[in-house]
Amino acid sequence: MELPWNDPRSNKFATTIGLITSSGPSGTNIMACEWTHHLSYKPGLIAVSLGPTKTTVGNIRHNKEFGINLCGLDQSILSSIAGGYSGNDYDKISALKELGFEFYNAKHIKTLMVKGASLNVECTLYKEITLGDHIMFIGEVIDAIHDPRKQTLFITTENIGLYNH
Ligand SMILES: Cc1cc2nc3c(=O)[nH]c(=O)nc-3n(C[C@H](O)[C@H](O)[C@H](O)COP(=O)(O)O)c2cc1C
Repeated sequence: MELPWNDPRSNKFATTIGLITSSGPSGTNIMACEWTHHLSYKPGLIAVSLGPTKTTVGNIRHNKEFGINLCGLDQSILSSIAGGYSGNDYDKISALKELGFEFYNAKHIKTLMVKGASLNVECTLYKEITLGDHIMFIGEVIDAIHDPRKQTLFITTENIGLYNH
C-alpha cells in the first residue's frame, strides 16, 4: 500500500532538516531535506532521499558531491525558502544572501556551505539507489564540523506546515 504525502500517518515521524547544498549544471543550489539520515560510522555515510524532479538531483549526479548542513533552531525561515522554491526557477542562494543568511566555501568540495548550521558535512557521492518514488544519494563524509552552541531544529511534518516532496 501507499503511505502518501500529506497523509496524517506520514506526518508523525520526528526528523531533522538537512539543507543540501550542491553545484552543477543548475548553478549553486540549496534544498531542504527532512529525509537525511546517518547510516554508518566507519566510513561515515549519510543518506539523503530526494524526489526525482529536484534540481539538486542533476547537480549531485554531475559533480558527485554535496553538502549537508543540519538546520539550526533559528534557521526555519531558511529551510522554508530552500524547501519552498525550485532551483530551476529561482536563485535561492542569492535570495537567501539578500535576506542576511550567510554561506562559506566548502573546504574539500566545490559548493557552498551554510553558516550557522548545527552541523556542516562535506560529502562525496558513495552510491545512488532508487527506492520507490525517491532517489537515495548516499554521501561519504570527507569533512564534518559542528558548532556546539547551535541546536538542531527537530520537527514532525505536522508542525512544519505543508510542503510537497
Ligand atoms: C522542511 C522541508 C523538508 C523537505 N524534505 C524533503 C525531502 O526529504 N526530500 C525531498 O525530495 N524534498 C523535500 N522537501 C521539498 C524540497 O526541499 C523542495 O521540493 C525544493 O524546492 C527542492 O529544491 P530544488 O528543486 O531546488 O532541488 C522538503 C521541504 C521542506 C520545506
